[in-house]
Amino acid sequence: MDQIPTSHIRNFSVIAHVDHGKSTLSDAILQETGNISEEDRKGGQVCDTLTVERERGITVKAQTASMIFSDTRTNELYLFNLIDTPGHIDFSYEVSRSLASCQGALLLVDSTQSIQAQTLATHGKAKSLGLGIIPVVTKIDLPGALIDETALAMSAAFDFCPSEVIMTSAKNKMGVREVLEAIVDRLPYPGKRAERERIGEIELLGEADDKFLGRVVDSWFDEHRGVVSLIQAVSGTITENQKVTNYASAKETKDIDPHGRTEFSVQDIGLLTPHALRTKSLRAGQVGYVIAGLRSTRQARLGDTMFIPSQHGRKMGAKSNSISPLPGYETAKPMLFASVFPVDTDQVDSLYAAVDRLALNDSSLSITKDQSSSLGAGLRCGFLGFLHMEVFNQRLSDEFGMQTVLTSPSVPYLVETTREEKDKNGKTRKYKTEHEISSVADWPQPDRHLSYKILEPIVKVRLVCPQQYYGAMAELIKRKRGDNIEALFLDDGGVVVSANVPWQEVVCDMHDAVKNDSSGYASFNYEEAGHVESNLVKVEIAVNGEACDPLSFVCHTSQSERNGRQMATKLKEVLNRQNFEIVLQAKVGNKVLARERIAPYRKDVLTKGGKTVGGGDITRKKKLLEKQKAGKKRAKMVGKVEISQDAFWSVLQR
Ligand code: GTP
Repeated sequence: MDQIPTSHIRNFSVIAHVDHGKSTLSDAILQETGNISEEDRKGGQVCDTLTVERERGITVKAQTASMIFSDTRTNELYLFNLIDTPGHIDFSYEVSRSLASCQGALLLVDSTQSIQAQTLATHGKAKSLGLGIIPVVTKIDLPGALIDETALAMSAAFDFCPSEVIMTSAKNKMGVREVLEAIVDRLPYPGKRAERERIGEIELLGEADDKFLGRVVDSWFDEHRGVVSLIQAVSGTITENQKVTNYASAKETKDIDPHGRTEFSVQDIGLLTPHALRTKSLRAGQVGYVIAGLRSTRQARLGDTMFIPSQHGRKMGAKSNSISPLPGYETAKPMLFASVFPVDTDQVDSLYAAVDRLALNDSSLSITKDQSSSLGAGLRCGFLGFLHMEVFNQRLSDEFGMQTVLTSPSVPYLVETTREEKDKNGKTRKYKTEHEISSVADWPQPDRHLSYKILEPIVKVRLVCPQQYYGAMAELIKRKRGDNIEALFLDDGGVVVSANVPWQEVVCDMHDAVKNDSSGYASFNYEEAGHVESNLVKVEIAVNGEACDPLSFVCHTSQSERNGRQMATKLKEVLNRQNFEIVLQAKVGNKVLARERIAPYRKDVLTKGGKTVGGGDITRKKKLLEKQKAGKKRAKMVGKVEISQDAFWSVLQR
């Protein structure tokens, strides 16, 4: 490794729309450079390691793999660090972070799908960071492949020269070597001055070029070894047994380390290939793992700066230290909130611990404690989207064995309150305040002394589809309360449709609606576009007269009746019959929008000869509950009625 100069290091991400072949090409690259064998590839995608990724066939976490490439044209060795990124928009924060730690990107486009919404979005991100970009057409072995057309579309859309575009089939290993050679020839190496200027590190060079500074790109928890951090070495070298500190976490160390330690001895350093390969040191330009005996997940936050305090002439623990931390990562803004509760209330501490560990590995997750009258103690979590929320829930179950109940998701609304008060001269003055609410439970109550406006978040949606679906997409956008529709017709027969759409409508079922209405040909992407005033109401769901906030939801007034009725009908389908009557109501304020009744079992143990009988049924009910708790542990009690996880999901999938 020491023989490879910095000029022979290349750090790059593989970016594309969902399913355009990122993980498969990454695996083919790893095979071509000898990191993995044909056998390894048969066992499933090497770059997708989480259970949820293998089960769903999607990439959720960016995966890093270093490899040595022997360039047969010059007989020189190169060290490549590849990051396979997720394609789904909910994980675009992972892509942004990955791109920020690279100097180049392979931009893939599936030859049977051409350019899609995420292609445009990821290309835009890579370009804005000034990365070197190599255009690659994938899956050219498929019978329906439109190879030249896709290459021309890429050249036209992104201003590439058609000869720059590389044609590949990761399945048949076609074009893979060409990609590797292009990485050598076309991508910049990390030490380049321009690159350092780009990431704002030029000012560090004079002071700290020989002193080690590394950025925490990723962190995860290993049961046996503690926290493993993936470090992008920006300057200097780090070796085993040196003492390191993570800049930001050290500041709050008293809270997170019982002994107040801020320095940790490095036990193991190496590269991920993607398996750990111990190298004992890491130097500027390289990306590798560092294990330093950290036990708390909060000691290695993503984007933090790792440094060696002794190199900076002042020990940590002194009032200040002399290093300037590296620029971190932008913080992700949650777009969707839901609460998670353990099915078994005794498991709440295990839930906190599990979510803490997941949060280390997923910095786009935001967490605060939550308490519900019906579900007990839990956590309120902020997600980037619906799939992110689903994957989070599945990872809690797959990786930590947690059985949880996830409540109906809510988008963050702004409430603008106006209060009228008389000042000392008797003049009426209006005072305005604004606050964000992320839970239906916090919906403002009617108040005579206050007036309020609700502002809902909107997103700028960008749809890409063949031109014959333009009409259907415009219709769909209107149905979703969207406006400002604009279209850009492309030379390759496609059209890019953009519009402002309420985020609530997008999160609900926009993905399915887009796929349905375009026979699967359209894809879409979105970005935040502020808030607008909207006529929204809270539809309260009451079960036997008792309000159930986890099932209540917010929607536009025009949709409240339809949605309320749908919800009551759906709940009727999924709730189990009891030996007493269940009445379901959907209400806005005191107005009942829908009412459903679930009849009791024919043998009503609560009544005998028309008279209510005493406690016998309670004992029976308790027995039943105990049995169920020990068995499935998947039901929660709301009032007297069991509401299963299915019932909650029926709300989510409304
Ligand atoms: P996400 O990370 O979920 O966005 O997916 P991805 O871009 O990593 O795509 P992935 O590599 O998982 O490939 C998606 C599908 O395309 C899989 O079924 C692959 O087997 C298939 N595929 C990928 N590359 C090729 C190829 O070169 N030829 C053929 N025939 N199929 C391919």
